[in-house]
Amino acid sequence: MNSDIFLPSQVAWATGALAGGPLIRKTTRLTDLPGIFADGEAWRRGNPQQSVYDVDVLGSPAGEGALCVGVTHLHTGNVGDEFFMTRGHFHARREQGEVYFGLRGVGLLLLQTEAGDARLEEVTAGSVHIIPPFTAHRLINTGKETLSSLAVWPVIAGHDYAALAEGFALRVFTSGQGFEVRHG
Ligand code: PA5
Ligand code: NI
Repeated sequence: MNSDIFLPSQVAWATGALAGGPLIRKTTRLTDLPGIFADGEAWRRGNPQQSVYDVDVLGSPAGEGALCVGVTHLHTGNVGDEFFMTRGHFHARREQGEVYFGLRGVGLLLLQTEAGDARLEEVTAGSVHIIPPFTAHRLINTGKETLSSLAVWPVIAGHDYAALAEGFALRVFTSGQGFEVRHG
């Protein structure tokens, strides 16, 4: 008998859907993102209840060394000409890194050091992104479907949103069928 074999949680690679465990979902709506998009007027004109992204986190591990697993589903859309994106954060514990995996859709991972140096990585199904310590991170959906990305991070990392009150050094806007990167 194999009745004592543990059945783990599952991620559906094609969609990022998590199943088989206690899940906590947090939805971030347009109304939750004041001051995040460059065009404040366009943000005010939008539907405040529109979901910009959902984050599903498995379980609630605690303590030094414990890891969190979550999937971000960043919907397609824009505010003015700027693509939908996550709020973005440093880890409160700056020395803690994180790994992102692209599952579905296309987009960009914006990384920024404490000195303000920013760079972009292309996110596609199967891409692997190692977010170094001391590096802020934000997902941007440049595609026409939901961008889903799996993340693994130390539970002690925490989130520091306030340190980015001035915004990131780069922004990404629609341009024809593609995108354009602008500074500031
Ligand atoms: O741990 C992470 O970096 C992700 O799970 C993010 O928290 C998620 O993508 C949502 O972004 P933010 O926390 O910047 O709103
Ligand atoms: Ni993070």
